[in-house]
Amino acid sequence: MAENRNDKNQKSAHKNLGNNQNSGVNLEKRKFLIASSAVGTLGCVAVAVPFVKSMTPSERAKAAGAPVEVDISKIAPGTMMTVEWRGKPVWIINRTSEMIAELAKHDDQLTDPKCDVTSQQPSYCKNTDRSIKPNLAVVVGICTHLGCSPTAKLQAKGDMGDTWSGGFFCPCHGSKFDLAGRVFKGSPAPINLVVPPHKYLTENTLLIGVDTEEKA
Ligand code: FES
Repeated sequence: MAENRNDKNQKSAHKNLGNNQNSGVNLEKRKFLIASSAVGTLGCVAVAVPFVKSMTPSERAKAAGAPVEVDISKIAPGTMMTVEWRGKPVWIINRTSEMIAELAKHDDQLTDPKCDVTSQQPSYCKNTDRSIKPNLAVVVGICTHLGCSPTAKLQAKGDMGDTWSGGFFCPCHGSKFDLAGRVFKGSPAPINLVVPPHKYLTENTLLIGVDTEEKA
């Protein structure tokens, strides 16, 4: 009897493992979460432990949702950096003038070129660039289809083909986004990527998690 129960448990464990292996979504999401938590742990362990220990549960919850301040001075034109905010990857892309010019050329290929789905960006980013500063895009790097983190394909053409003008490709099911996070028609993702609330504290300091109208 006991052997039978063990047998059943083992079979159930294998079944669960199989399901996870077949789920690109969960694995991709998990990869990011594991990687980011590992980096966070390594980078912050020396200073974070004493603070975390002394925090009450409500203080800890508040810290997890706290705004994130980022030094953007090192993002070279045509490149990007990724930071973590509320457990999600946030991309900061420093677009060149050529990249910005391309954004105005493919409205007819986009699902929501004018950013009419208001839930996807703050009102101050409802424009072609979807940004406060024309060169700097700030976008949550999570696909609006099933939650994978798309791959950066910032440069035009290359392995994305001759008509590609730069953007992001979600390998899970093939969604494509431009350099403003707007989704191309024909993608399984139904809407544009999310632009989080953000503001600039100085020329080179970005605060993610607070709207431009609000005080930090
Ligand atoms: S999660 Fe399916 S295309 Fe991105």
